[in-house]
Amino acid sequence: MAAGKNWVLTVTAQTPTNIAVIKYWGKRDEDLILPINDSISVTLDPDHLCTTTSVAVSPAFTHDRMWLNGKEVPLSGVRYQNCLKELRSLANDVEEEEKGIKISKKDWEKLHVHIVSYNNFPTAAGLASSAAGLACLVFSLAKLMNVKEDNSRLSAIARQGSGSACRSLYGGFVKWIMGKEENGSDSIAVQLADEKHWDDLVIIIVVVSSRQKETSSTSGMRETVETSALIQHRAKEVVPKRIIQMEEATKNRDFPAFSRLACADSNQFHAVCLDTLPPIFYMKDTSHRIISCVEKWNRFEGTPQVAYTFDAGPNAVLISHNRKTAAQLLQRLLFYFPPQSEADLNSYVIGDKSILQDAG
Ligand code: DP6
Repeated sequence: MAAGKNWVLTVTAQTPTNIAVIKYWGKRDEDLILPINDSISVTLDPDHLCTTTSVAVSPAFTHDRMWLNGKEVPLSGVRYQNCLKELRSLANDVEEEEKGIKISKKDWEKLHVHIVSYNNFPTAAGLASSAAGLACLVFSLAKLMNVKEDNSRLSAIARQGSGSACRSLYGGFVKWIMGKEENGSDSIAVQLADEKHWDDLVIIIVVVSSRQKETSSTSGMRETVETSALIQHRAKEVVPKRIIQMEEATKNRDFPAFSRLACADSNQFHAVCLDTLPPIFYMKDTSHRIISCVEKWNRFEGTPQVAYTFDAGPNAVLISHNRKTAAQLLQRLLFYFPPQSEADLNSYVIGDKSILQDAG
């Protein structure tokens, strides 16, 4: 290690969130975070809905600490600890000649890290903040510690922080393979297609409410697995077929098939939430009205123009197959859901490339 205690080494990384179009809901192992089915997601453009994380190491730090959106949060949770432990075990020598810093592999066991993370979107409001957050934390620490493992191995580490995080290690279309091994070594994310493969898709996120959800994904899915009769049918019979069809639709850029599968899977995920005891209601009236609006439009056109999907929250993720349709969609949203006409509905986030319109 370098002489003196006055040096600090930092790394900053940015990771976008991902939106599942075939959902992960339910674990077979709570500690290792192993799912009961495969899932497929789209990673958003890094300009929007992303986490920025800076990690620092210094001999002056006396313990590991973390700040999220400016507030210190405890790092004592088993999920963070599992990620940190595994990354430390894979750390390598680091040398910064200019600063005279030399950290050897075994120094990492004693050195402490500080983590500062910032989400540019509402945390825990069903916009997959934990996915971007944990993926970014693992990625930036791996860079700091000179971990040489590839993204698939890093995805298995991020998975232990939050399941959906493993998919944010890649851009484009990503599949999280549930795996068979008891130790989770084969429960990893793989990239199905990169971000350029289907780049005319436009994603509009309608923020129905940015309030923190009442039932977290973690406890919600636990209760579903314990009490729902439908969840096993979904995981064993429905999702495996949908995964094959969704891979095909993505590969062929087949928007009608993509849309039908994404909408059906979102609806089944929320049906399974309703089948939980006590039932979990993630969507609000406005969410249901958005679904009706899209369904009517798609039926009128005779072929799907827009897909919708809702995670564990009321906010709609709407995917249109090109910019022209996205413009029409936005026009309709502004007409049927004018900003501030509803107490809750206040902003639209347009991803792939451009606008964040805060109409509130
Ligand atoms: C509805 O990954 O947040 O967004 O693994 O317990 O941290 P934990 O849950 P989390 O669940 C995400 C659920 C979902 C669907 C999905 O992203 O696939």
